Amino acid sequence: MSGSGRRRRGLFVTFEGIEGSGKSTQLARARARLEAFGLPVLATREPGGTAIGEHLRRVLLESSGRLDPAAELLLMVADRRQHLTETIEPALAGGAVVLCDRYADASRAYQGAGRGLGEAAVDALHRTFAPLTPDRTYLFDCPVEAALARVAARSGTSVDRFERESLAFHRRVRAAYRRRARREPRRISVLDAGRPEGAVFEALWRDLASLLRAHGHAVPGDPA
Ligand code: TYD
Repeated sequence: MSGSGRRRRGLFVTFEGIEGSGKSTQLARARARLEAFGLPVLATREPGGTAIGEHLRRVLLESSGRLDPAAELLLMVADRRQHLTETIEPALAGGAVVLCDRYADASRAYQGAGRGLGEAAVDALHRTFAPLTPDRTYLFDCPVEAALARVAARSGTSVDRFERESLAFHRRVRAAYRRRARREPRRISVLDAGRPEGAVFEALWRDLASLLRAHGHAVPGDPA
């Protein structure tokens, strides 16, 4: 069955962190390096990643009325389900390295902890509708104040519903991400995102290159 989480050929890698943690910049760098090495790569994001998902993204990020927290979670999971079946699973079946900007851990952190719905409700939905677990998740971690200062300094982008949330909300999100990383240390690699961009990328690349080698890819830099 599609969406079943059965074994596949590619590699599924997700990028997580609070707003302003630099994850999207790091994902773009990882994509560029993988492409330069001729590896098949798909870069995608949530919410979004499909035509229907991009509609849902606008509802989730730009709606002005109060969106019920559980409705918000259900829309995130609807987006994820569409994304999994339409984009992620076919790409993995074709052997691609899928780099996804946010995935299920974002719902645990933002809706489970940030909105207070609890991780059990979030996990129950994922078990049924989006059971695929990433092979590796990078958590870009830095203090909330520093990350939000980066968001405020970005020019030309409008502030979305989540970026308008309180410091306390973002602290709950960060704490939830870190808790999850402690629970799943083999899947989730925590990267100190307070360092310069190049240093963060080299740490990410060291881990990603060894993951690729473990999956049988020849990565330049390997001993001959
Ligand atoms: P993102 O694309 O990372 O925004 P930006 O590029 O501005 O950093 O994510 C959009 C927002 O959606 C982000 O604030 C987190 C939120 N989100 C959730 O609350 N739950 C989810 O499951 C996902 C995927 C995202």
